[in-house]
Amino acid sequence: MSTVQEVAARKAGTVAFHRAVPRLARDPLGALVGFAEQAGGEVVRVNLGAFRPFLVSDPADVQHVLRDNAANYTRDGKGMLWRSVKRLFGEGILAEGQVWAASRNTLQPLFTARKVDALVDGLAASIDESVARLDEPARAGTPVDLGAELSTIVCGAIMRVLFADKVTVPEALRIVNAQNTIATAIVFRLVVPFVPNGVPMPGDRPFRDAVQQIDDILLPIVRAARERGDEGDDIISTLARAVDAQGRPIDERQARNDTVAMFATTTETTFGVLTWLWPILQAHPEVAERLYEEVDRVVGDGPITRAQLGEMTYMKAVLEELLRLYPVGWLIPRVTVADDVVGGTRIPAGADILVSPYITQRLAKVWERPSEFDPERFSAARSERHHRYAHYPFGGGPHVCLGQHLFYLEAQLIVATILRRFRFQVADPAIPEPQVAASLRPKAKVELTLQPRDAAS
Ligand code: HEM
Repeated sequence: MSTVQEVAARKAGTVAFHRAVPRLARDPLGALVGFAEQAGGEVVRVNLGAFRPFLVSDPADVQHVLRDNAANYTRDGKGMLWRSVKRLFGEGILAEGQVWAASRNTLQPLFTARKVDALVDGLAASIDESVARLDEPARAGTPVDLGAELSTIVCGAIMRVLFADKVTVPEALRIVNAQNTIATAIVFRLVVPFVPNGVPMPGDRPFRDAVQQIDDILLPIVRAARERGDEGDDIISTLARAVDAQGRPIDERQARNDTVAMFATTTETTFGVLTWLWPILQAHPEVAERLYEEVDRVVGDGPITRAQLGEMTYMKAVLEELLRLYPVGWLIPRVTVADDVVGGTRIPAGADILVSPYITQRLAKVWERPSEFDPERFSAARSERHHRYAHYPFGGGPHVCLGQHLFYLEAQLIVATILRRFRFQVADPAIPEPQVAASLRPKAKVELTLQPRDAAS
C-alpha cells in the first residue's frame, strides 16, 4: 500500500446496530443489498455487535479481494462461514493454504474443458433415463416435487460420470438430505461466527448427526478405494492416489474431506439453481417459448450431443441470468491478513469481509432494472458492457469454481431433455423466496405438473 493511498483512504461508513439488526432479521438478503445500495456501492461496515463485517460489493473492489490481492483475503478458519464449514469439510479443497493447494492440484485436472466435454455422452444418457421416468406421473397428471426430481436426476448423472457408481443413487440421496440439514443448521453459527465451536448452539446436534450420516456412507467407500489402490479418473479413485506438495500420499482424512466437498459441490449447486427456473419460465412465457423453439430446432430424436449444446446460445443466456438473480454460492466470506485499502476505504488486518454475488448482481448501479429477469442481458452484443466482476456466480481468482463448465453443460442437458418431452405447469406461480442458508435455495417446494408433448400436440 502506498503512502499516498494511506493518506487518501477513508474510514468505512457503518450501518448502525439498531438499523442493521431489525432489517437483517426481517429480510437478510434484501437488507444486505439495501446496505450496499445506500453506500453507493462503496465498502460499508455492518455493525452486528461483536461481529462487524465489511461488505464489498462494487465489481472493481470484488476483483481486488478475490483476484488481484487474493493472498490478503483468506478463508481463515476463524471467519464467517468457514469456521462452520470446516466442521464438515475440514482441511482440503474448501480450505486454504498448502493443503488446499495440493487438493486443487489433484482435482483441477478432472474438470478441464476437454475432460468435461468427454462426460457429455454419459451425462446425456443418464439424464435421459431419469427424465423418462417422469412420463408416468405426467401421463397420470400427478404433480411432482421438482426439487426432489431434480436431485434424483443430478445424483444419477453425477454418480455415474464422476463417482463411477461407487456411491449408489439411494446413498447419494441420503447424503443430499444430510447436506440440506447442514446448510440450514449452519445458519445459527453463520450470524454469530465469534461464538467458539465449544459453546453449544441451536443447530449443533442436527449438524453433528448429519455429518455422521455422510461419514457413515462415504468413509467406507474412501477406505476401500485406498486399500484397493483404485485406478481410473473418477473422483474417488483420483483422491485415493492423491499426493501432497512433497509427493507423499495424502492421509485418509484429507481424502475424506475432499470426497465430501466434491460430493456437495457437484450435486446441491446444480439442482438448487434449476428449481428456480420453472416458476420463472411460467412467469415469462415468451422466454419459455424461445427455449422450446431452440431445443426443437437444435436437438433431433437421438441423444443430445456436445456440439448441440454449443448451439443452444439462448439457453446459456437464460442460465446466466438465472445465476445472476439466484447465485447458489451467494456467500464468499474472507478474513484479511494485513491492512489494505479497497476502493479508497481502509480495512484493518483480521477483519471479516463479505463478498456476495447476490448483492453485486442486484445493484442498480451495476445492472439496469436489477430485479427483472431478462436473459437478453447476456446476448453476445450486450454482455460486453459489464465489468468482469459484475456477474461472478462462480467466484474468481485462485479459488474460482472448478465446476463452471460442467454446470452449464449439465444444466443445458437437463433443461433440454425435460423440454423436449414435456410441457409444464407450476402449481404455485409465485417465484419462491430464497432461503438464507450456506447455499441459496428456494424457501418453498416447487410442484410441477408435466404433460407429455406427444399428448399435448
Ligand atoms: C451453479 C453451480 C455452481 C455455482 C454457482 C458455484 C459457485 C462457486 C463459488 C462462488 C465458488 C467460490 C468459493 C470461494 O471463492 O470461496 C466455488 C468454488 C468451488 N466450486 Fe463451485 N459452484 C457451482 C457448481 C460447481 C460444480 C458442478 C462443481 C464440480 C466440480 C463445483 C466445484 C467447486 C469447487 C471444488 C470449488 C472450490 C475451489 C477452490 O477453492 O479452489 N462447483 N463454486
